[in-house]
Amino acid sequence: MGSSAEPRLRPTPLHEGLHRRLHAVRQRTEALIAALEPEDLCLQGMADASPPKWHLGHTTWFFEAFLLEPHLTGWRVEDRRWGYLFNSYYDAVGERHPRPDRGLLTRPPIAAVLAWRRRVDAGLATLLHDLPHRPQAEADALAALVELGLQHEQQHQELLLMDLLDGFSRNPLEPAADPGPQGAEAQWTRLIGHVPATRGWTSHPGGLVSIGHDLDDPGFHFDNEAPRHRVWLEPFELADALVSNAAYAAFIADGGYSRPELWMSEGWALVQARRWQAPRYWRGEAEFTLAGLRPRPAEAPVRHLSWFEADAYARWAGARLPSEAEWELAATSSAGLAMAFGLLWQWTASPYRPYPGFEPTPGAVGEYNGKFMTSQFVLRGSSFLTPADHCRSTYRNFFPPASRWMAAGLRLARG
Ligand SMILES: [Fe+2]
Repeated sequence: MGSSAEPRLRPTPLHEGLHRRLHAVRQRTEALIAALEPEDLCLQGMADASPPKWHLGHTTWFFEAFLLEPHLTGWRVEDRRWGYLFNSYYDAVGERHPRPDRGLLTRPPIAAVLAWRRRVDAGLATLLHDLPHRPQAEADALAALVELGLQHEQQHQELLLMDLLDGFSRNPLEPAADPGPQGAEAQWTRLIGHVPATRGWTSHPGGLVSIGHDLDDPGFHFDNEAPRHRVWLEPFELADALVSNAAYAAFIADGGYSRPELWMSEGWALVQARRWQAPRYWRGEAEFTLAGLRPRPAEAPVRHLSWFEADAYARWAGARLPSEAEWELAATSSAGLAMAFGLLWQWTASPYRPYPGFEPTPGAVGEYNGKFMTSQFVLRGSSFLTPADHCRSTYRNFFPPASRWMAAGLRLARG
């Protein structure tokens, strides 16, 4: 961090905006658990998922470990042992509690975690107020770290809901985690009421195109979205709509899950081993959701399927999954891309790898994205579980091809 610039005495609009965002994002996380029972806060349905309380602690630890402890003079760490509990995967920061055992952490109690959140919020407010008194380069670097912490917390808001859906789906009582009119499932129901009836294709000429975040653009981006670079695309077509429940049901009726020729070998092995016969939360003609068991509208986009299922469906349909470059080009074209954001993440055919010239963010937060660039596929867009202001046409989400608990669907490509 540079220290040669003159101190500034007035907060910049950027820093004032951060203060408001800090409050809004931190509040929203806590609103997500407002309707839960105490027992729900430790629910961990599988090793890939985390309990709600852990998400609240981990996002708080992120701010304490990366901002307050190193950068706020006099900050007293809440409890050194909590770093071990709430570190997710940052090897540079130290050892950590095994991920599959997060549901065992009945202590610290939620009241202590919430009190910690209050203290960390106050510390962050002090840090933000203090920014104008720091050298500009240092202030800008700290503001960028606060923004990263907020974007990180928004990612965990979606994870919290995904993980709750997984955990609740394992309860024979089929409970509703988020049943209110402001809940995510109510939002989904409103959105699919406006899904366009068109099922056409849009052609793109391809050619030499540029994708990725332009580093001259001051807007937020994760390191994995940069640098902007050129890609050659052959002419292609993208479907105007996501694949529907009805279309996916036709794939199943046509023996989709019993025809090995439609599947990648690894996917076919999973179909056998896990006895997959439908998307993860289908139950007969219904679907398990955050609002409990609900009817499954035929024209709604199919959701909660793995890359292997998306890929097999596309092959059955005589199409393929789009590359992430095709998706981004279409989303940023003058015509735009229908159903790009706010419904479901969309699997792409692109392995999650660094862009040419990729540089991880310096320091321990460099572990955020770069070290996961293996054995995963990129998803584009955003979902009904994603905070509304947390989407970009360059955003690269990523999951292993067998994962099904995300709000993921698919869009077909051909050509
Ligand atoms: Fe995290």
